[in-house]
Amino acid sequence: MVLLTRFLDWTAIDLTFLLATKNQDKCAELQRLLAPLGIKVIAPMDLPFDLPDVEETGQTFAENARLKAASGCAASRMPCIGDDSGLCVDALNGAPGVCSARFAGGHGDDNANIAKLLRMMEGIPEKDRTARFVCSICCVFPRGKACATEGCCEGRIGFAPKGENGFGYDPVFIPYASPLKTMAELSDAQKDTISHRQMALKQFAALLMDIQS
Ligand code: IMP
Repeated sequence: MVLLTRFLDWTAIDLTFLLATKNQDKCAELQRLLAPLGIKVIAPMDLPFDLPDVEETGQTFAENARLKAASGCAASRMPCIGDDSGLCVDALNGAPGVCSARFAGGHGDDNANIAKLLRMMEGIPEKDRTARFVCSICCVFPRGKACATEGCCEGRIGFAPKGENGFGYDPVFIPYASPLKTMAELSDAQKDTISHRQMALKQFAALLMDIQS
């Protein structure tokens, strides 16, 4: 009850956050997940100018999320949320990791990325196909404050792509929370109850309440 009251106080302050991502699938998921948490956001496509492209030079998801949020905040002077995320496969020593979007070369070519992943995993038995999605969220405020969270979704890599929903590696990722289906066979609402992104954003909403209190 105390938490809920603090949350309502916070929403009254009426902050709007900018999402620092040009990935439309990711943007849609972030908007879908943040709305019920009472966090108002706008997408870069709603701005009257283009956000600069950010070179993802970080060694970790957290570093890259911060680079994206800081760049978006500097360009817009708005509190800005960066998301850096990807897939870490144990049998590949954590690859594709921070290189998830450009694993097969071109940025964001999901089919090529999946094909390369499945090729590299040929011959690896089911018990050794463990993997996780990781999502790092960082929010940078115009006066320089920042807060960061991370969420993770454990599962394994399938042997062939299945399903049409979601994006990225969803067709080959089978979450332990729903072990008979790939992430791409789940509805948006089902993905949103178990995903790495929802976990990171729930922690982010809790942190915001603390900052405001
Ligand atoms: P980023 O835009 O540099 O953070 O790259 C994220 C990449 O990781 C995407 O292009 C996808 O390949 C992958 N990825 C991140 N989140 C998800 C997800 O929820 N499902 C499937 N793939 C994801």
